[in-house]
Amino acid sequence: MSNPSTPRDLALSCNGVHRYLGSGEGRVHVLRGVGFEAERGKVCAIVGPSGCGKSTLLYLLGLLDRAEQGDIWINGNQMSQADDAARTAVRCEHVGFVFQFHFLLPEFSALENVMMPMRKLGRLSPDHMAARAQQLLTDVGLGDKSKRLATQLSGGEQQRVAIARALANAPSIILADEPTGNLDQANSGLVFDLLCKLARDNEQAVVLVTHNPDIAKRCDIIRPMRDGLFV
Ligand SMILES: Nc1ncnc2c1ncn2[C@@H]1O[C@H](COP(=O)(O)OP(=O)(O)OP(=O)(O)O)[C@@H](O)[C@H]1O
Ligand SMILES: [Mg+2]
Repeated sequence: MSNPSTPRDLALSCNGVHRYLGSGEGRVHVLRGVGFEAERGKVCAIVGPSGCGKSTLLYLLGLLDRAEQGDIWINGNQMSQADDAARTAVRCEHVGFVFQFHFLLPEFSALENVMMPMRKLGRLSPDHMAARAQQLLTDVGLGDKSKRLATQLSGGEQQRVAIARALANAPSIILADEPTGNLDQANSGLVFDLLCKLARDNEQAVVLVTHNPDIAKRCDIIRPMRDGLFV
């Protein structure tokens, strides 16, 4: 599956990506031939007005959705034509996703939520999974709340659990859709610093969508988007 034209140092890239959403009269050409690259160890901000296609693109890059046209490579593997099983395997191992709305499982504890992706990958013993989840929660400042149900945490705390969950399998790529959107200034600083530290210390590629100009300014790269294309 390796593609010789894809630079080896790129964690993630895409080319000529088109996506249509809706049907009939309501069919919208949301992404109009997007190209994008993300390097290991760098934090890239995608910015742009509401509705320009940022979340749609992030879903495609995270292999949560399929494009009508275009190529997506993850660590040199061409994923657009891969079957669902191959895409799921690559997603579990290489991609951590922080959603615009965090989607924690409300009936499970913070610890259980963070352990979910590890269970899916199935490489660690239950004790190791629990220990790793506890450490990740400590890293996001929630070590003492790991046994709480997701519903017993504030919005900002839930978002930090979602970040710990995205890091569970030490993915080489972290895609975050407005990860600080629901947080106060102190917590949004904490979360952003954590994402930067991860990118630098673990050579992870971090791609985040943000409407916050202060956060965007602190990223290594800013890519402005408009009407389904980068400008
Ligand atoms: N199921 C759908 N049917 C038709 N159009 C859709 C559908 N889902 C999304 N869209 C449209 O696709 C466009 C891109 O949506 P997307 O969620 O990617 O925007 P965004 O840039 O993430 O915006 P925001 O900053 O508000 O999160 C929007 O114009 C939206 O209305
Ligand atoms: Mg969005």
